[in-house]
Amino acid sequence: MKICCIGAGYVGGPTMAMIAKKCPEIPVTVVDINQARIDAWNSDTLPVYEPGLDEVVKEARGRNLFFTTEVDKGIQEADIIFVSVNTPTKTYGTGAGKAADLKFVELCARRIAEVANGDKIIVEKSTLPVRTAESIRRILAGSGKPYNFQVISNPEFLAEGTAMEDLTEPDRVLIGGEESEAGDKAVAALVDVYAHWVPRERILTTNVWSSELSKLTANAFLAQRVSSINAISALCEATEANVSEVARAIGTDSRIGPKFLKSSVGFGGSCFQKDILNLVYLCEHFGLPEVAAYWEQVIAMNDYQKRRFVDRIVKTLFNTVSGKKIAILGFAFKKDTNDTRESPAIYVCRDLLEEQANVAVYDPKVTPETIYRDLQTDASDERVSIMTDPYEAMKDAHAVVILTEWDAFKDYDWQKVYDNMLKPAFVFDGRNILDLNKLREIGFEATGIGQGGKRGTM
Ligand SMILES: NC(=O)c1ccc[n+]([C@@H]2O[C@H](COP(=O)([O-])OP(=O)(O)OC[C@H]3O[C@@H](n4cnc5c(N)ncnc54)[C@H](O)[C@@H]3O)[C@@H](O)[C@H]2O)c1
Repeated sequence: MKICCIGAGYVGGPTMAMIAKKCPEIPVTVVDINQARIDAWNSDTLPVYEPGLDEVVKEARGRNLFFTTEVDKGIQEADIIFVSVNTPTKTYGTGAGKAADLKFVELCARRIAEVANGDKIIVEKSTLPVRTAESIRRILAGSGKPYNFQVISNPEFLAEGTAMEDLTEPDRVLIGGEESEAGDKAVAALVDVYAHWVPRERILTTNVWSSELSKLTANAFLAQRVSSINAISALCEATEANVSEVARAIGTDSRIGPKFLKSSVGFGGSCFQKDILNLVYLCEHFGLPEVAAYWEQVIAMNDYQKRRFVDRIVKTLFNTVSGKKIAILGFAFKKDTNDTRESPAIYVCRDLLEEQANVAVYDPKVTPETIYRDLQTDASDERVSIMTDPYEAMKDAHAVVILTEWDAFKDYDWQKVYDNMLKPAFVFDGRNILDLNKLREIGFEATGIGQGGKRGTM
């Protein structure tokens, strides 16, 4: 048995590293067309930052884990081929702005069809619209080759920042296959791989369409919780209620549960928005406009939350940030990752720049190149400085804005920060991680999200 994974990204890299670690007898080859990415996977500086990932890669790389750009060879040698390429929101043509762009997935299917030299199990690891497996099957069948190609769905539920924990002890592994003897056999082969370390009762098998749809549904539900609590945060600010207290009060209800109830400047990441938009598009496509409108509201609320946060900053800074230095702490979309895709920081910074502010950005893991790229500018732009020292970023600033919940931010010497800032010294905590009362004792004018009432208001 040999495994190949097409796509060495945030999902392909960590998931295959885990399979290689847990199944030392299975050779696992991760292939990608991006030479720089493959080089990085073969170096000491991996392209993906995830706590615990370095150790797992170091243990398995060269033993039974390989990274290469030899896509065709990888396909030919493998029995199981994971497709873990990106499926971004389409930016052109029909469905632009909503539908998933499946061109990378289709290219993989066509490549497999062209070079395969035997039976293959093709595993959809990418997040895909329901019924994509049918298109892949048709492309493979079009090759006219005498081999058996089984397409099964195995969506990935890992969260960036905790990917290695999530992969080590997944809540469940979902595998959906064709309801036929060959389909059952393919599903059983993949179950055997995961059963090396995942208890059997956590490996759920379903039909292929349920599996595809479950991934979109899971992300829609998770994002909906964030938008729900963020909607309440706006009401808290208007009524002197405190959203953290409300979240605790409702989260202790076992029917609601405490997770994903932390109010913030908004969710980001490569998945939530794109997957919900994809769901919205599917609903419209299948003639369900009411269902589409329901889910679309989750995105609308998230956009509102980001805008509302910037409005508040501008309003608090005496209605203008023009020419003012705003220190931005955190650019990644969440802590413990270097991923900035759809990060609220991008939108907040862009809006602040639009208001003619100068931003000094500090993030412990995101590279300056990424930040400049995301802000569509470069090092010659005097309005944007990217700092390697957070205290330098905050020196002489009018305001500090927290946009990622990095733990280290909590332990800064906030007295020192205050002493070096312009006064009044403002802090806007977009992640509700700082002790606002302590900051106020120092002298800051500090505010969080949805922190109404004595414990939270300015
Ligand atoms: N990032 C997450 O947290 C997460 C979680 C669960 C599921 N997913 C899903 O997994 C999929 C991959 O996400 P990601 O974050 O790893 O994306 P990514 O952009 O980090 O990685 C995708 C990789 O695929 C490569 N690629 C594209 N076309 C290729 C081709 N034809 N041949 C070889 N390589 C090719 C790209 O070069 C890139 O390195 C997406 O569908 C995403 O929705 C992501």
